[in-house]
Amino acid sequence: MKSILQLHSVEKAFGGLKVTDKVSFSVMPGEISAIIGPNGAGKTTLFNQITGHLLSDGGAIYFKGENVVGRPPQQIVARGVGRSFQIASIFPEESVLDNVRVACLSKLGQTRKYWRSVLDFQQATDDAYSILASLGLADQALRQAFELAHGDQKLLDIGIALALKPTLLLLDEPTAGMSPDERHQMRVLIKKLWKEFELTLVFIEHDMDMVFGIAEKVRVLAQGALLAEGTPEEIRADKQVITAYLGEDF
Ligand SMILES: Nc1ncnc2c1ncn2[C@@H]1O[C@H](COP(=O)(O)OP(=O)(O)OP(=O)(O)O)[C@@H](O)[C@H]1O
Ligand SMILES: [Mg+2]
Repeated sequence: MKSILQLHSVEKAFGGLKVTDKVSFSVMPGEISAIIGPNGAGKTTLFNQITGHLLSDGGAIYFKGENVVGRPPQQIVARGVGRSFQIASIFPEESVLDNVRVACLSKLGQTRKYWRSVLDFQQATDDAYSILASLGLADQALRQAFELAHGDQKLLDIGIALALKPTLLLLDEPTAGMSPDERHQMRVLIKKLWKEFELTLVFIEHDMDMVFGIAEKVRVLAQGALLAEGTPEEIRADKQVITAYLGEDF
């Protein structure tokens, strides 16, 4: 089977500091995997390089066989890379429904060859409600986004990403700032979404229950470089990973 995403020696430096350093790995279609590592290891930077929010200094990033380095984010999204942000990126004054509906409309606009605004609006409304239902947010559709609880705002951010029908979804710390209960719910939900939307899913997390609970593969970044890659069992037992990140008590 061919990989859906391949990184070849990807690099980024800020000033003199190498933030991602010759990172290479391949992600297979349908895989659910985690990227872990200490604060400042370069995890978010790597996502930004994949999505085109940051221009890589070196290396190549193949998505569905095409090197996307140098392409703008909207082209990379249109090819099927979705993402959520470490801090939820939503329109706070708009309704929950509209946050998702606007994204659904823009996706319809990408694929339509002719103008059918009323039908598209109805279609986008239906699609948005269906996504909100999958997230358990349908009953809050008409509230303004800022009124949602922190955890639900993170869900809404994922909903906006799903509206663009990604094949590869990148989630940056989906459980950041959540209570243990909310984390548990998020863990269950992400696994459900992965199956329901037939995604290839890569998530960054500091929550080890989530990492070792649902990832099929774990990649460890430390000081910008890929320190280790393997199954959860392999990573748990890796001496270098224990020293650099997990700690002896893990
Ligand atoms: N735009 C930028 N300009 C300069 N330095 C940056 C920029 N973005 C990130 N950095 C630096 O790059 C390093 C890696 O940051 P990054 O956000 O990728 O880490 P991270 O692994 O996501 O960390 P965390 O787990 O805390 O989210 C940090 O030292 C950070 O200060
Ligand atoms: Mg980060």
